[in-house]
Amino acid sequence: MVEFVLPKSSRPVEGKVWPRPEGASRLREFRIYRFDPDEASNPRIDTYYVDLDDCGPMVLDAIIWIKNKIDPTLTFRRSCREGICGSCAMNIDGLNTLACTKGMDEIDGAIKLYPLPHMPVVKDLVPDLADFYAQHAAIEPWLQTVTPEPEKEWLQAPDDRRKLDGLYECILCACCSTSCPSYWWNRDRFLGPAALLQAYRWVVDSRDESTSERVAYIDDTFRLYRCHTILNCSNACPKSLLPGTAIAELKNLAIAQTTGE
Ligand code: SF4
Ligand code: SF4
Ligand code: FES
Repeated sequence: MVEFVLPKSSRPVEGKVWPRPEGASRLREFRIYRFDPDEASNPRIDTYYVDLDDCGPMVLDAIIWIKNKIDPTLTFRRSCREGICGSCAMNIDGLNTLACTKGMDEIDGAIKLYPLPHMPVVKDLVPDLADFYAQHAAIEPWLQTVTPEPEKEWLQAPDDRRKLDGLYECILCACCSTSCPSYWWNRDRFLGPAALLQAYRWVVDSRDESTSERVAYIDDTFRLYRCHTILNCSNACPKSLLPGTAIAELKNLAIAQTTGE
């Protein structure tokens, strides 16, 4: 369990301007949110300059460059650098997205980096995702069956398999949930778009035999119906998935199950 030291104010103050790299002719300015719970001081915005002739083209390349060449204390998550693990999600120039797939050339002016919004901050660009993962666990994201296990494998018709397209690709980056105003205010009880998209993925899986129990669990004023179809979630998804649409389908299934239609 991580213990958080809350800053005196959530409004970051102006921080350090780090020296420009010597001899560089093509520079890019970065303004990056810094917060160290051990210092118990306000968050600050530090300014860095990246030598574009010595660095790859993506935002993740730049923050790795900053960490290696300027400031080893800068803290962020990353792993695959291929848009697959979801760990480098952050707020880049006002939008939640993946640092490894966001090109610096897609952004005008100084590049502003913040952690995913409305989550507790562990350090710098690292949010605490404990609630987010607990919500994912709550929808029991695994195959549930009552019929005896087949000798070899559970079979699925191609048409049924296709129903999982646009759902199974979720990388749990949390860009959608942390862009959802309802999630910001009701994170303790609303499951949020990422967990609900995953819930729908198991509800429509033809092999799963807990469909009605899954729908009954989700059919709740807060878990499901805090979604007001604002669709920030679908706009934010870096994998072009549509959690808002999955939530709308879940609402239809919940109504059908309740009314028996
Ligand atoms: S549709 Fe809107 S309210 Fe519903 S989960 Fe997405 S962003 Fe949140
Ligand atoms: S639905 Fe998209 S934005 Fe949301 S967690 Fe999955 S991949 Fe990330
Ligand atoms: S480092 Fe894995 S998605 Fe960006």
